Amino acid sequence: MSFDDTFRWDGELTVTRHDRKTGASFVIRLDSTRLGPAAGGTRAAQYASFAGALEDAGKLAGAMTLKMAVSNLPMGGGKSVIALPAPRKDIDQVTWARILTLHAENIDKLRGNYWTGPDVNTNSADMDTLNETTEFVFGRSAERGGAGSSAFNTSLGVFEAMKATAAYRGLGTLDGLSVLIQGLGAVGSGLATIASEAGARLFVSDTDPERLASAEQLGHTVVGVDAVLSTPCDIFAPCAMGGVLNSEIASELPASAVVGAANNILADGEAGAILHERGILYAPDFVTNAGGAFHLVGREVLGWNQDTVEEHTRGIGDTLTEVYSIAQIENTTTDQAARILARRRVDTANVTVPA
Ligand code: NAI
Ligand code: PHE
Repeated sequence: MSFDDTFRWDGELTVTRHDRKTGASFVIRLDSTRLGPAAGGTRAAQYASFAGALEDAGKLAGAMTLKMAVSNLPMGGGKSVIALPAPRKDIDQVTWARILTLHAENIDKLRGNYWTGPDVNTNSADMDTLNETTEFVFGRSAERGGAGSSAFNTSLGVFEAMKATAAYRGLGTLDGLSVLIQGLGAVGSGLATIASEAGARLFVSDTDPERLASAEQLGHTVVGVDAVLSTPCDIFAPCAMGGVLNSEIASELPASAVVGAANNILADGEAGAILHERGILYAPDFVTNAGGAFHLVGREVLGWNQDTVEEHTRGIGDTLTEVYSIAQIENTTTDQAARILARRRVDTANVTVPA
């Protein structure tokens, strides 16, 4: 990636820091504060280069802007990436505590223009640790007064998205449909439970053998990590990392629909167009996975109770149906249609924009 590519980014602000002692590098990117303070989780992962971490943070922050807008939540979009010096599981407690404290210092300097929350490799206990240094944290544990994990509500939203997508695609209800879940973590495992209760036949894949063993005990069919993208199914549900569908894979994917929790499922715009041409109905991730944002922002900013959070999360199905009909009317991809809907909501929001 060239210098220009790394910095040619339309967001509002990038904050970076490196810590020689732990070898961790930190990125916070604020994509937009137009609808409210930027919000988005803290992702801890290893990256091949610092430019890669910057790029990921920028794309993830952009997805948060779209997610908040399309969900009518009064927040902007941002994201943090902590580029780790080793796999998360190999980082000892003292080092991890230092990494979190430095990250919290960075967040605090933004004085409320950015609120973080859990994401891949960070959880409510980590949010409690961040909160010792900064107040701008969603998803602390219930004991510390936070809303706790957003995972189950995210699973619920993906399930609603699946039902709406199956119906729109003419597949009927989930009863008897084959659903392939890639990633049985916090969101994927919750989704597996609800989808199988609704009668779906589950195919599951994970890099973690322990997670697969428990899924197998529940009667789900295990698919090898390398076979996921070539295994026929009615609905493919990416619930691990983003970027799983590039144009080459989209041209071959043997599924009728794609509905998953992972942020930034499409590696490029071309993949969305190919899915569209092939009649594979793609549920845009920033609409589908908004259950976590409803949980965190709903509970901690808007004062919603659990019932209200659930009501909004169940509305994800209706939002998707609206996206699908915009795509039909505008003769465009569902990803573009969801961006149109997000843009409409930004344009009609009662906000003051700096000149
Ligand atoms: P997690 O870290 O609990 O689970 C991810 C799972 O994917 C793990 O079990 C991991 O072993 C597995 N995995 C990793 N690489 C894989 C591969 N190549 N093939 C198969 N499995 C693989 O994460 P969580 O919280 O379940 O989130 C999943 C996705 O959903 C992430 O992309 C996250 O950004 C997104 N998301 C999560 C939300 C939340 O509330 N937790 C909200 C919105 C989006
Ligand atoms: N990281 C999750 C997401 O991508 C949950 C989250 C939502 C975290 C909003 C912070 C703010 O949606």
